[in-house]
Amino acid sequence: TIPPTIASVTDYIEYARKRVMPAAWAYLTAAAGDGLTAQDNIDALQRLKLLPNALQSSANASTAIELFGTVFPYPILLAPVAYQKLAHPDGELATVLGASAVQAGMVVSTQANVSLEDIAARAQTPLWFQLYMQPVFEDTLTLVRRAESAGYRAIVVTVDAPISGLRNEEQRAAFVLPPHIAAVNLPPTARAGTAQAVAGQALAGPLCSPTSTFDDLARLVAHTRLPVVAKGIAHGADARRAIDAGCAGIIVSNHGGRVLDTLPAAIDLLPGVVQAVGPQVPVLMDGGIRRGTDILKALALGARAVLIGRPQIYGLAAAGAAGVAHVLHILRTELEMAMLLSGRPRIDAIDASVLWA
Ligand code: FNR
Repeated sequence: TIPPTIASVTDYIEYARKRVMPAAWAYLTAAAGDGLTAQDNIDALQRLKLLPNALQSSANASTAIELFGTVFPYPILLAPVAYQKLAHPDGELATVLGASAVQAGMVVSTQANVSLEDIAARAQTPLWFQLYMQPVFEDTLTLVRRAESAGYRAIVVTVDAPISGLRNEEQRAAFVLPPHIAAVNLPPTARAGTAQAVAGQALAGPLCSPTSTFDDLARLVAHTRLPVVAKGIAHGADARRAIDAGCAGIIVSNHGGRVLDTLPAAIDLLPGVVQAVGPQVPVLMDGGIRRGTDILKALALGARAVLIGRPQIYGLAAAGAAGVAHVLHILRTELEMAMLLSGRPRIDAIDASVLWA
């Protein structure tokens, strides 16, 4: 049961921390470098102010959106987060149960600790598969074919982490992957490198093929019937290249500040990418979303939906599936309230005019 003292997403942090080993907590929450980008993701959202309009009828209020032919009741998805058995013994199986309870889309990491088929078998909500392009194209293709057969509806290719970031907090905590926790979806040869990467030996263990280019992205697009989404785009020109390579969507992200420090906040990167992309291709964003008002601000700056990384881990670690569902419920409720109280009761009524300039 969830105590009444948990009223907001950040209320979960202390409960979660108590339930996770310190070294695992370091992995799950750390940031690269001095954590400036991770902190600025949050601060920049908090700095933005809302300017409501009064007496806007809330008839036909709705938070529903459509992405790649799937209707989502509200624009919040679970971002891909690796190694969820570090947060909870059931790992991704608990997460997908929580997401299903509240109909939130979930992006399953390449480095999940449960087979992508078992996660899909448990899911009663749309799933997307997050892909790190593998050094051998056949290995990449095998993952994509498995995701297609298991009913995943999109492939999210993460492009901002050719190597893992170096996170000092993990180093100080001497974090290593426990032997029973593995990236089970990868071929055994790739698992070892991934484990090294996760242990902070960034160059020893690349997360994905470090020689990948936009041509590889185009090759991937040509090999799947699923929409391909590029995650980790910071630069408007890169967004255009991804679309030229055939991508159907873009996720503006700095990986929660976990790979390269001193990037701008994700919310500050968003307008440039939205401008470069135009209205045809959906742009999503993640990084620093902790409140419903944060989501309203991201939508105001052109995001079609947002994803949450650490918040799902706080819920998962503290209370398993119920915690994940509750975190999503809190954010959804806060978004509904922010929309009604700002006079923007429908998603299509949200634009930059809701921000105080
Ligand atoms: C991540 N993230 C991530 N991204 C990705 O594309 N593949 C992955 O396997 C992972 N793994 C991962 C593990 C952990 C512990 C965290 C915290 C994050 C990044 C994630 O998808 C997302 O971009 C950020 O977490 C968003 O920032 P917030 O919501 O954590 O502030």
